[in-house]
Amino acid sequence: MLFYIHIPYCDSKCHYCSFNTYVDKFDTRDDYMHALHTQIVFELKRFNAKENSITTLFIGGGTPSTVSPELYKPIFKLLSPYLEKNAEITTEANPNSATKEWLEGMKNLGVNRVSFGVQSFNEKKLKALNRAHNPKEAKEAILQAKEIGFKHLSLDLIYNYQGDTKELLSHDIDTAFSLPIDHISAYELTIEDGTKFSATPEVRQDNENLAFFVSDEIEKKGFKAYEISNFGTYQSKHNKGYWEIKDYIGAGAGAVGFYKDKRFYPQTNIDAYIKNPLHITEELLTVEELLTEKIFLGLRSIIGIKKTLLTTSMQNRAEFLCEENKLRSNTTHYFNENFFLSDELSLYILG
Ligand SMILES: C[S@@+](CC[C@H](N)C(=O)[O-])C[C@H]1O[C@@H](n2cnc3c(N)ncnc32)[C@H](O)[C@@H]1O
Ligand code: SF4
Repeated sequence: MLFYIHIPYCDSKCHYCSFNTYVDKFDTRDDYMHALHTQIVFELKRFNAKENSITTLFIGGGTPSTVSPELYKPIFKLLSPYLEKNAEITTEANPNSATKEWLEGMKNLGVNRVSFGVQSFNEKKLKALNRAHNPKEAKEAILQAKEIGFKHLSLDLIYNYQGDTKELLSHDIDTAFSLPIDHISAYELTIEDGTKFSATPEVRQDNENLAFFVSDEIEKKGFKAYEISNFGTYQSKHNKGYWEIKDYIGAGAGAVGFYKDKRFYPQTNIDAYIKNPLHITEELLTVEELLTEKIFLGLRSIIGIKKTLLTTSMQNRAEFLCEENKLRSNTTHYFNENFFLSDELSLYILG
């Protein structure tokens, strides 16, 4: 089972981001972490969690590095018996708030992977995205994390923002590879409703060539793509777990949980969540919805699609795609080797 914890605080709101985060609610941190604890106790029972049954824990946000390790302590204490011995424990972090003390504190709690939201190493671009850090801080935070001894380090990049060129992105990628990381997430900018950029959607470039370029450059340097936006010599077990549609507990305001054929939604509003972290709505997924999800996620990544899940006509269409060299198959699965075509191929198989 996977476990996700959402930390809904940020130092500033990035112009592209629609995640559930607050820049003016820091005084609720104690209460929020307490509410999280309450929800986690409930979820461990609901998911019938056993000793060593949590294979991955991911603390995401928002900005987990806005909350001190001390406040995470009770949660780690609670989760400790349920965490598998070699569990992958990731935290996201922003370079401006991931200080030496914070990183050391998280390492002492058992975190073994840090994913830094870098986005770019270009100062002007960082400002335009409204990031709270500069390129130097990003490099220093990653070097610091390495020195402290985290086993796995990752960073996020964003591309296809207006003015992005091969030169700018090459510089971002070269700088990333000069750092001691084993993973990169490279996301194409999307314009989300309710964000500052939604008023100026033209800031997103529609340049397919740059998408291929970024992917090729990262692969050329030795990080293989294991999903449309994820590359590494290390493949995150948590990420892969999502694409395999494993069960996951989702704790926190705006988090999502999944168990068998149900999704769980705790309240999104932070004050409402703190008041009642157990007010959780459920959504039942149909067999068709689950299959659609398995096809889309399977073809966006190295997971592939299990043949036995498909109806005969879907299998026929998948076989046709194999003949056309668009898919590859072995005795049990179909695999996609060009993740950029995944949505098209999925729609074709669904018919
Ligand atoms: C939700 S953020 C959390 C990480 C951390 N707060 C940070 O930003 O440094 C995870 C990643 O999603 C990506 N992201 C968020 N919104 C995006 C958008 N609209 N388009 C492309 N990537 C986006 C960014 O690369 C970001 O680092
Ligand atoms: S990208 Fe990260 S730091 Fe920026 S608003 Fe979103 S969650 Fe916060």
